[in-house]
Amino acid sequence: MNNLPSTLAELVVPLPEAEFLELLHERKLTLLRGKNGDRYTELLGWNALRHMIERGEYPRGPDHFRVAKESISAPQARWTSEGRADVAKLEECLAEGYSVIATHIEPLFPPLAALCEDIRSRLREEVYAGLIVTSGKDGAFKLHYDFEDLIIVQAEGTKRWQIYGPAVSNPVRGLPRPSTPDSPPIFDEILQTGDILFVPAGNWHHCEAGPGRSVHFSVFMLPPTGWHGVKRIISPLIVEEMFRTPLTRLRTPSELAALEADIKNRVIEKISQLKLDEIIAKWGEKG
Ligand SMILES: [Fe+2]
Repeated sequence: MNNLPSTLAELVVPLPEAEFLELLHERKLTLLRGKNGDRYTELLGWNALRHMIERGEYPRGPDHFRVAKESISAPQARWTSEGRADVAKLEECLAEGYSVIATHIEPLFPPLAALCEDIRSRLREEVYAGLIVTSGKDGAFKLHYDFEDLIIVQAEGTKRWQIYGPAVSNPVRGLPRPSTPDSPPIFDEILQTGDILFVPAGNWHHCEAGPGRSVHFSVFMLPPTGWHGVKRIISPLIVEEMFRTPLTRLRTPSELAALEADIKNRVIEKISQLKLDEIIAKWGEKG
């Protein structure tokens, strides 16, 4: 337990950290076999999460916990008693093929908190960890892609990952949803306990648990983009009256033309203040 990785370099060893950063830069799907053995099973397996739930240490927020099968959430009554997560009911859900999806778990597991902090400080990105417990063939989610780059570590049991191309290039929340791929998978592998899979943002994926219980944890890395910077500058303009004037209530074409000129000038003035290094600095502070 003591030698669990607490830095990115330790997690990906023997791959040099610089090589991993290159994979991240290229957003290149990569499987790293047999790196961790079962050293995460005790810390991050279902038993560890179950004990935290029993002790009332988790979940800590309503959006930190979900029970779902193929993206369909189980009603809260199926897995709670008196408003709290109920381990016996969660076991029943797991037996019925539901997955337990726990996000923002890193504050509960010091090596994971240190790992996330190391990556956050190095990359200046938003970094957090999640855990998915499954037993059965159904996935927690239907075929989907994530907006974050994911380092997946199989902590307990096995899991089949099927990844479909082409990946959505540099996805950002709010991007119109592209059509779901319908060609055969470009990647179809079974992760064994200890394996690491780097799934770049935008890679369509679906998982099936192997026989018995399967647990993986993910480190999510979300970088800022120019779009985030533009939104950060433009969204606050809503407090300014000119952006809220009803266009159809203006009395003359010249009033409309004057407003248009004012809006253009104001947006140009604001957008000329865009500083991408400030966006990076503020993003890094968020964690
Ligand atoms: Fe995903």
